[in-house]
Amino acid sequence: MSDTSEKLTQTIEEAARHPKNLGEMESADAVGTVGRSDCGDMLRMWVKFKEENGRRVIDRASFQTFGCQTAIAVASVATEMIRGKTASEALSLSGEELASPLGPLPPMKIHCAQLVEDALRSALDPEASKNPAPVAPPVSGPTLSDQIAPVGKVKITLIPKS
Ligand code: FES
Repeated sequence: MSDTSEKLTQTIEEAARHPKNLGEMESADAVGTVGRSDCGDMLRMWVKFKEENGRRVIDRASFQTFGCQTAIAVASVATEMIRGKTASEALSLSGEELASPLGPLPPMKIHCAQLVEDALRSALDPEASKNPAPVAPPVSGPTLSDQIAPVGKVKITLIPKS
């Protein structure tokens, strides 16, 4: 493993070990859930807005995921990055931009950042979201685990409480 990829791995591991903004948000203004059929990972994102200088900006965002370490790390940094941005500013960010605080992701990890981008898009622009999660209707609760349809390949990553 090269020094660069070893450093990226360490950065991702560290971010995933101490994720920021983890957990559901009861008073959220927007919620988006997406899943990837190729790896079975799922991610839900909650967004709360506030008024600031005449603009409606993101006050805070949080997430839950049954996802890989990279998805956790990207969601952690992305939920920090979008604070203070309008919905359209946040929607203009690509998965790679959302992951940029971690460093450039290798091609095999780009889809993990895409999962975060898709969740954000699903929350902020549900009409445009192309990758909805395979949730089981009817929707019965606010947590991601409440809405998982136990079919197909679903990988569950338990995150220890800090
Ligand atoms: Fe599926 Fe990372 S392996 S999101």
